Amino acid sequence: MRAENLSRLASMRDQVLNRAEIRPGDTILDVGTGQGLLGLGALERSAPDGHVIFSDISEPLLEDCRDAVAQVSATARASFVPAQATDLSAIGTASVDVVVERAVLLFIADRAPAFAEYHRVLRPGGRLSLGEPLNSWMSADRPGYLWGYDVTAVADLERKLHDADRARRAPDEDLLGGFDDRDLMAMARAAGFQHVEAQTELSLAPPPARGDLDVFLDTAPNPLAPTTRALMAAAFTAQEAERFTAVLGESLHQGRGERRHALTFLRAWR
Ligand SMILES: C[S@@+](CC[C@H](N)C(=O)[O-])C[C@H]1O[C@@H](n2cnc3c(N)ncnc32)[C@H](O)[C@@H]1O
Repeated sequence: MRAENLSRLASMRDQVLNRAEIRPGDTILDVGTGQGLLGLGALERSAPDGHVIFSDISEPLLEDCRDAVAQVSATARASFVPAQATDLSAIGTASVDVVVERAVLLFIADRAPAFAEYHRVLRPGGRLSLGEPLNSWMSADRPGYLWGYDVTAVADLERKLHDADRARRAPDEDLLGGFDDRDLMAMARAAGFQHVEAQTELSLAPPPARGDLDVFLDTAPNPLAPTTRALMAAAFTAQEAERFTAVLGESLHQGRGERRHALTFLRAWR
């Protein structure tokens, strides 16, 4: 699973950077750089004299990037700018050749100002290249499925679990990923980009077979969310929990279900 995730990350990095058509000497802004996945790749591609601006809302992550850049002896070609994607005022108008970004817009409620900022900081002729997971399709509510595992035989209980999950969610949690490729294209166009293209990858596959029902039940989708076991305790009687885990355990064991994967790559020219 870990190897699969790493190779998926490397593939996304390459797809975003290939589409950015980075040339030696370019100045590249990596928005929401995280640990510098795109920015470090952009440093290589813009050598020997290109410059990369690593930007993020998290100062500790920018410090990680600073260390990683020092390790490849490229400190003179990098800068580190704490900034919101929606407010890049620390970066000059028409000052960069390329803006790259991966998996950031899904964390932002109001995405139009981010596109406006990407457009503002780019020089005429500059390129925007971004890659985003499409949670609107990947994580769409599918009655009878739990994390892609088929529990249709106890669909009534799956709905109870689903309702318990909805009841405890903050209203704005749903905004994560509430967009698709056409929404992103429309936002890029509205921000002033004249040429915009998007390519979307959708795939379906059975989820991996797993023998670890307990580990699965004790896992939460993110650190703030409850585990499946905690949700079950809130939603089910003891008998219902038994009925549900019997079906779920079997499905996990056989890897029965449907896992979705969806990514979109957008690029636009200023
Ligand atoms: C999933 S990580 C992606 C990191 C990196 N782009 C990559 O490809 O590995 C999301 C990053 O977006 C940053 N982020 C979240 N909200 C942001 C915002 N409003 N403006 C800028 N960065 C933000 C987070 O700090 C985090 O580093």
